[in-house]
Amino acid sequence: MDNIQNLKTEIISSIDNAGDLKALDDIRVSALGKKGKITDMMKSLGSLSVEEKKEAGKTLNILKGEVAKAIEAKKVTLEEKALNDKLLNEKIDVTLPVREEIQGRIHPISQVIDEICTIFGEMGFERKDGPSIEDDFHNFTALNLPANHPARQMQDTFYLPNKKDGSTEIEDSNVLRTQTSCVQIRTMQNEEPPIKIIAPGRVYRSDYDATHTPMFHQVEGLVIDKKSNMSDLKGVLNEFLKQFFEIDGDIPMRFRPSYFPFTEPSAEVDIGCSKKGGELKIGAGDDWLEILGCGMVNPAVLKNVGIDPDVYQGYAFGMGIDRLAMLKYGIPDLRTFFETDMRWLKHYGFVPLDIPSVTNGLSSNGGNARWNLHYLG
Ligand code: DAH
Repeated sequence: MDNIQNLKTEIISSIDNAGDLKALDDIRVSALGKKGKITDMMKSLGSLSVEEKKEAGKTLNILKGEVAKAIEAKKVTLEEKALNDKLLNEKIDVTLPVREEIQGRIHPISQVIDEICTIFGEMGFERKDGPSIEDDFHNFTALNLPANHPARQMQDTFYLPNKKDGSTEIEDSNVLRTQTSCVQIRTMQNEEPPIKIIAPGRVYRSDYDATHTPMFHQVEGLVIDKKSNMSDLKGVLNEFLKQFFEIDGDIPMRFRPSYFPFTEPSAEVDIGCSKKGGELKIGAGDDWLEILGCGMVNPAVLKNVGIDPDVYQGYAFGMGIDRLAMLKYGIPDLRTFFETDMRWLKHYGFVPLDIPSVTNGLSSNGGNARWNLHYLG
């Protein structure tokens, strides 16, 4: 019996002193393992009398339980300690400068989206998002493009399998959205005017060459209230273009009559540029560069979303983000945007902490609008 008591003291104190999980496991094996001390004692019970056997067996079983429990408790403590040590070792000093070779870059598309949202944000526009997979209603019909409307041919649409089994009706199909204009519809369906939003995002069309990719980016703008008019639109766009291209002073801008089913009247907007000597310079000179489409929201569109066109009116505009990025930063081939080439990203990308701001500067290099016209396409 004394032996058992001594053994208990010995094992429990070694458990207390175990410095790590490995040491603790060694103790477990040496006490409870096949050749362990307690196991050995159990085996030696055979030589005792029945009475003694009963008594010692009981005590040994209790000891076995106590040792197992002590080991389990110690294990929890040691595991916690191991985790804390690990966390302490892995502590990151966020104030250290980033090593140049591992620093990532912001993709020019993300940069330009940030710049656009910053400028319009300052003017009170709220950012909205919408899904890439749209139904025919939001992408076309509600935007005054009913089935068989000839203007549907303007966009090389990716159609997805019909929603309803067996139906071949075009109105029942889903599409990869061909334009961010559908976010106009979603917003007007869900919110009461006044509305003042921009919606940047991905759009999809079946086209591929140096200036077209099957996935590209647009930003849509929409203002609906009781009095917004074409001259407000002109003022907002002029301010945006001046800020976006980081031009001091005025930027020449002209509205050319155009056609979009969702706006009436519609216009395309050009900005002044110079193409002298095969080099493009935005903001001055006697040439023009087409930048975006816009117009007053067609009353038919307002009716489609249940807004009374006799009370409300507004304007909309849409532009290609990728094209804006190409023009501002002198990137010659649209396809390279989506090739995930690290060398390209290192060259054209932006430093993560250079966050665009209207007051502190939009981009670190102020744009690179002077570049070889040969690439413009
Ligand atoms: N959705 C048009 C396109 O993809 C762009 C556009 C033009 C949007 C005029 C507008 C607008 O809101 O008013 O070509």
